[in-house]
Amino acid sequence: MVHFRRKLLSHGGLLRQLKQHIRWSSSLKIRNDEVVSPDRSFKYADLSVRLAAPHQLHPKPEVSALSFGKYFTDHMLKVFYYEALGGWQTPEITPLENLVLHPAAKVLHYAVELFEGMKAYRGVDGKIRLFRPDLNMDRMNASALRSGLPTFNSTELINCINRLISIDQEWVPHSEASSLYIRPTLIGIDPTLGVASSESALLYVILCPVGSYFKTSSEQEGVSLLADPRYTRAWPGGCGDRKMGSNYAPTIQIQREALEKGLQQVLWLYGDDDQLTEVGTMNIFMFYINENGEKELITPPLNGLILPGITRQSILTLSREWGQFKVSERVITMQEVCRLLSENRLLELFGAGTACVVSPISYIKYIDQGLHIPTMEQPNPVFKMFLKHLTEIQYGYLPNHPWAFPLD
Ligand SMILES: Cc1ncc(COP(=O)(O)O)c(C=O)c1O
Repeated sequence: MVHFRRKLLSHGGLLRQLKQHIRWSSSLKIRNDEVVSPDRSFKYADLSVRLAAPHQLHPKPEVSALSFGKYFTDHMLKVFYYEALGGWQTPEITPLENLVLHPAAKVLHYAVELFEGMKAYRGVDGKIRLFRPDLNMDRMNASALRSGLPTFNSTELINCINRLISIDQEWVPHSEASSLYIRPTLIGIDPTLGVASSESALLYVILCPVGSYFKTSSEQEGVSLLADPRYTRAWPGGCGDRKMGSNYAPTIQIQREALEKGLQQVLWLYGDDDQLTEVGTMNIFMFYINENGEKELITPPLNGLILPGITRQSILTLSREWGQFKVSERVITMQEVCRLLSENRLLELFGAGTACVVSPISYIKYIDQGLHIPTMEQPNPVFKMFLKHLTEIQYGYLPNHPWAFPLD
């Protein structure tokens, strides 16, 4: 195969023809394990770099003008995968450019796509750090597996991403109100219409400087939610626990409905008992006084209905380390929320995710009820403790923290 590939590479025209016309044969071994250890991967050592020419460089926006996902840096990372050529090709950093796809490309028809969302932070010491990128890579591989797309070695992709960020490092904002959002994406690009696994793929990474996810008033007042049991985002046996684009498109209309009702986000419910699953694109936490009069932090379990969030996992680990209150992963229902509120035992509800770290919740519109959540009225709310601790790790106030991965 290696010999065949070398021969091909020496004939550029033939390679291009082959890429365009061959019907790829599938031999990707897919394992059913939770943590994926691929036998094939691209290598950071093979990375090539083509820098943008001076006229291709974009002006950097003011930090105050940043909004989520609007401005992109000057470069991107690309790695193609062709089953018939032995799998992953060599990674390359190029100027940010449009993709050229065949109109039959599987991503465009069957949403054969998955992505990740992570951030690079410029610390108080000037160093740039990623927050637990190894976990994003594990999740990306798990999503790839569920989509029939090729998996890869996590460290190799982290090293390539680090190089991309170091090339565009001036785009990492010099401000603690902002960061550089990293969007690794994997798409199936087979130019064939069959609903079948894609034997060619493109992994790419783009970067965008971002400001605060929510408007300042939301941080001070808490967010308001629409909880409508007619809608659900995930179900048992589905793929709500994988970060696939196909999970997000069907949420847009409901999010618009929330906005039209003057509410900011959707609280996603599931089942006849209206279980709370996620808030918008965040995991949900409740802090309350339990039946024994103890303070307890709870969050829904990883039962396939929610995305295994990295912020969620970090909050659970911190809480267990701190040992200041009980911590459980279990189902929460709307009936329980209403009862705890009526008994003054619900202290805080908040969402957790990379985009906003933690986001306090102050109101839920549930069927015909308006539920006021007293998160913002607590004297020392736990959501603020998490926000402070996680941002201290991210911005280098707690140097050498094992969750922070500095760029070399
Ligand atoms: C649906 C959903 N839930 C939860 C999260 C939070 O995950 P994380 O903490 O890894 O950003 C995200 C964001 O990635 C998401 O899209």
